[in-house]
Amino acid sequence: QELQLNLEQIEKGGYDHFMLKEIHEQPTAIKDTYRGRMLPDEGLIRMAGVDDNLERIANAKRILIVACGTSWHAGLVAEYIFEELARIPVEVEYASEFRYRNPIISEKDVIIAISQSGETADTMAAIKLAKEKGAFAFGVCNVVGSSISRETHAGAYTHAGPEIGVASTKAFTTQITVLTLMALKLAKHNGTISNTDFMTYLQEMERIPAKIEKALEGDEHIKMIADIYKDARNCLYLGRGFNFPVALEGALKLKEISYIHAEGYPAAEMKHGPIALIDEEMPVVVIATKKGHYEKVVSNIQEIKSRSGKIIAIVTEGDEEVRDLADHVIEVPETLEPLTPLLTTIPLQLLSYHIAVLLGKNVDQPRNLAKSVTVE
Ligand code: AGP
Repeated sequence: QELQLNLEQIEKGGYDHFMLKEIHEQPTAIKDTYRGRMLPDEGLIRMAGVDDNLERIANAKRILIVACGTSWHAGLVAEYIFEELARIPVEVEYASEFRYRNPIISEKDVIIAISQSGETADTMAAIKLAKEKGAFAFGVCNVVGSSISRETHAGAYTHAGPEIGVASTKAFTTQITVLTLMALKLAKHNGTISNTDFMTYLQEMERIPAKIEKALEGDEHIKMIADIYKDARNCLYLGRGFNFPVALEGALKLKEISYIHAEGYPAAEMKHGPIALIDEEMPVVVIATKKGHYEKVVSNIQEIKSRSGKIIAIVTEGDEEVRDLADHVIEVPETLEPLTPLLTTIPLQLLSYHIAVLLGKNVDQPRNLAKSVTVE
């Protein structure tokens, strides 16, 4: 028994929980994801699974992404990135819905299955269905040799290392990394990105691990915020554009490990319903980085404030405007807009982690959940 405990402690590498260890592993995990693939000196991205099937993928009429849970959120981020950079139409589907519809799939479609475990039953079934209809299947998995990685025609591993905590963290950010590299590669091939922009992305991608380290330094401050809101019964998460899926992911993290009801919404959808929920009891986490729709998000924040909602804002370093409005701000370093999810996700992971710990919940093995869902 004692030996077992010690072993687990060693595996946790000095952290109290696997989840916290995995959150902190993200800078290294992302480097492992792009190492050998991203070659800024040569102005190249090399990904065997894409290179070997470049024409097939780059000429896809449509990319279909299928996944579940956090992997589905990574798929949503990828949708924004693929469409922005590579100008290929993308649809993102819950694997469980896709497989039981009568989806329209053609031989010109490329289907990307995203799965940390590579064993999720619905995702596996979706891939089989798309293959039967002639689509080209590409897997983005973490577990090497997993069922989905074997079932797909080609793929790219995330190389995040083992993820033990049931709440997915480093799998999410490394999935986004792989899919960003893929989008950049296709963009370059299809001529939808200039050489200068391509190089700017590569150089910025190399700075992401250090920027995540910086975001992780907010830990103590986030813990203090967690302590204030740990007894909330509900929580809203809002984001726009590339950060809309991050809002969904932040809400899922809070739900699954702290059992607090949380919902993620595109910020502008607030007016179409959720705004009715806002009062002084309602914490609202808003991703308000200084890019894209910043001014629109600021006006959403004003609407929350005028209804006495409590605002926790994720902002770009040095932001003053939101600081004046929000109850709490958590800063992340500046980066290119499509890469912001890699940074804005970090404080949301830490926030849910600290709330769950403060509530005494079983962070690594939340009730009713399994690490991989191999049954329907
Ligand atoms: C995330 O924190 C979850 N535990 C869950 O939603 C997970 O992402 C989902 O079950 C998909 O798993 P997969 O990536 O292994 O396919």
